Amino acid sequence: MSYSDINFDSKTILITGGAGFIGSNLAFYFQNNYPNSTIVIFDCFRSEEVLPNGNLLSFGHYKNLIGFKGNIICGNINNKNDLLLLNDFKFDYIFHQAAISDTRLYNQELVMRTNVNAFYDLLKIAKKDNSITIYASSAATYGSLPAPQIVGLESPENPYAYSKYMMDRMASKYAILNPSMLIIGMRFFNVYGPREFYKAKTSSMVIQLGHQILDGKNPVLFKNSNKILRDFIYIDDVIQANIKACKSKGISNHEIYNVGTGESRSFQDVSNILQSELGTSFKNKYIQNPYNGYQSNTQADITKTRENLGFEPNFSLESGINSYINEIKRVHGSENS
Ligand SMILES: NC(=O)c1ccc[n+]([C@@H]2O[C@H](COP(=O)([O-])OP(=O)(O)OC[C@H]3O[C@@H](n4cnc5c(N)ncnc54)[C@H](O)[C@@H]3O)[C@@H](O)[C@H]2O)c1
Repeated sequence: MSYSDINFDSKTILITGGAGFIGSNLAFYFQNNYPNSTIVIFDCFRSEEVLPNGNLLSFGHYKNLIGFKGNIICGNINNKNDLLLLNDFKFDYIFHQAAISDTRLYNQELVMRTNVNAFYDLLKIAKKDNSITIYASSAATYGSLPAPQIVGLESPENPYAYSKYMMDRMASKYAILNPSMLIIGMRFFNVYGPREFYKAKTSSMVIQLGHQILDGKNPVLFKNSNKILRDFIYIDDVIQANIKACKSKGISNHEIYNVGTGESRSFQDVSNILQSELGTSFKNKYIQNPYNGYQSNTQADITKTRENLGFEPNFSLESGINSYINEIKRVHGSENS
């Protein structure tokens, strides 16, 4: 499905983080809809480096890109020599997804370096090439502020959230200094869908609970999960928002848009819908929530996203899980390392 009247076929498109969940879906969107576009993926993929929290340093995986026919550059956005490899191209569009995406990584230096400094270097490339830049911000910037969350009222409560907030601030300043540029931030809420499997423990609860059920286990939820709410958004709608952002009708050359459905649903709902899709009726196992500062309700105010981008979510939680369920089954039991 094409989400825009822009003809990307003659365009050169950079996707940083293109071996990851959202980036690889973007890459296939362009490949499928605009086979004559030049798509360049820049990603460091995964090394075997494991962080103190037990998660990998980066989650890119070649299996997300099986069938991708474009250009792949393995490089680290923190390494200026690696970024020089991008000089062989002139980008019309840059979709910046590469990041430390692990919200529970507390190595502040690493998070800030990767998410903030590298973004500055990418903005310089965008300026040189006169590219339109769409970058990934995050709903984490809202911290535990009450729902619905609105752009302009932020409260970052961990290094990841702070780094995304700083990206937004930097983009705003950069756009003022460079009025001919278009720099658009996407505040993704809880994204789920195909190609997230390799994020392992940082993948959505949709796939994690789905696999617990397929293992024949009682799906594990925190106590009071019927009251812990999230704005869950299916990957196809996230791609829609990214594509429509290329033609932002905002008043400024830097805008930030919430990317959610505008509705919050509970983790209990997720578990129930999965059980209904999988034809099971396991009792949930409820455990104590070990996290301080756990967001109790995220719900995107998408008024501006609707007005300026013409964005309209196509998937409810029910229809998103229904579209996703065969993929959840397909990858079940395979190795995600
Ligand atoms: N998935 C969500 O629910 C969600 C929500 C809010 C924001 N985001 C943001 O959206 C973007 C994409 O998220 P995702 O879910 O696809 O995560 P992901 O971890 O699957 O993708 C990130 C990609 O960046 C790559 N990467 C990490 N560090 C790198 C480095 N130093 N150099 C080059 N590449 C590097 C990884 O290998 C990976 O392929 C991220 O910026 C994330 O913070 C995601």
